[in-house]
Amino acid sequence: MKVSKAVFPVAGLGTRFLPVTKASPKEMLPVVDKPLIQYAVEEAVAAGINHMVFVTGRNKRAIEDHFDKAYELETELNARGREQLLQLVQDILPKHVTCSYVRQSVALGLGHAVLCAKAVVRDEPFAVILADDLIDAQVPCLEQMVEVFDRRQRSVIAVQDVPREDTASYGIIQGEPEEGEQLLRMTGIVEKPKPAQAPSTLAVVGRYVLAPTIMRHLEQVEAGSGGEIQLTDAIASLLREEMVLGYRFDGQRYDCGSKLGYLEANVMYGLKHSEVGGEFQQFLDRLAAHEGADRGR
Ligand code: G1P
Repeated sequence: MKVSKAVFPVAGLGTRFLPVTKASPKEMLPVVDKPLIQYAVEEAVAAGINHMVFVTGRNKRAIEDHFDKAYELETELNARGREQLLQLVQDILPKHVTCSYVRQSVALGLGHAVLCAKAVVRDEPFAVILADDLIDAQVPCLEQMVEVFDRRQRSVIAVQDVPREDTASYGIIQGEPEEGEQLLRMTGIVEKPKPAQAPSTLAVVGRYVLAPTIMRHLEQVEAGSGGEIQLTDAIASLLREEMVLGYRFDGQRYDCGSKLGYLEANVMYGLKHSEVGGEFQQFLDRLAAHEGADRGR
């Protein structure tokens, strides 16, 4: 079976970024000049996915508009002969890609959000992308994972090592080597354990390729950590019945759900940006030189 659909849970309130998220979705926060959700969709497209399923909530209209045709803007850019910009706006979504929007009217957690997509996903394997985990990689992270799925036909969860003091912010897995160091056969997973209770320091990052059987487990799990229906708990239940793989991806992850991670992403993507990268580097060099001079004083 092929992975052709990706689910984007985007109904969260984004409280960590208030006030900017008061009236606009956190997934529309830009890293340099592109919103987080666009990086996520581009990653899905690179992985061969052609159907994007957004699980939205209140205040998320901007996401629908972003991936929709913008007649007025396009007519205006056309009339002014701004062809490059017109192209940029029209290329946000390739023509072969379909978008569906499902509404999650109550915020009952990530697992519940994924379950809301059931009618669209149906009986197919699918990806889940959490847009606030931005991953910079030579081969996009989801493409790496879909390659593993194509070969093994098993659910694949992205993981990375985190400092032990941070385990309470993540789903933490337990696993045994399956193919070298990079692929693990998961033997357990728990949501946000305290450092002392964490079974390892391998944390789940926001990329999943899931077998459709996960939906049945999502329907059955009860509210867990934080009183929410957790995807992690459904995966724990799934791996009692079938093999689930943990995959240490190649790439650098930025936690854009935190202010610090978001700022880091902007610096790193800014430095690589074709238009401003060079001058931004010079700015940072001047800043560092000033700081050095200040310290010397
Ligand atoms: C979610 C998942 C968690 C995972 C994390 C990755 O948590 O529940 O298992 O490790 O995403 O970013 P959240 O960050 O939404 O609280």
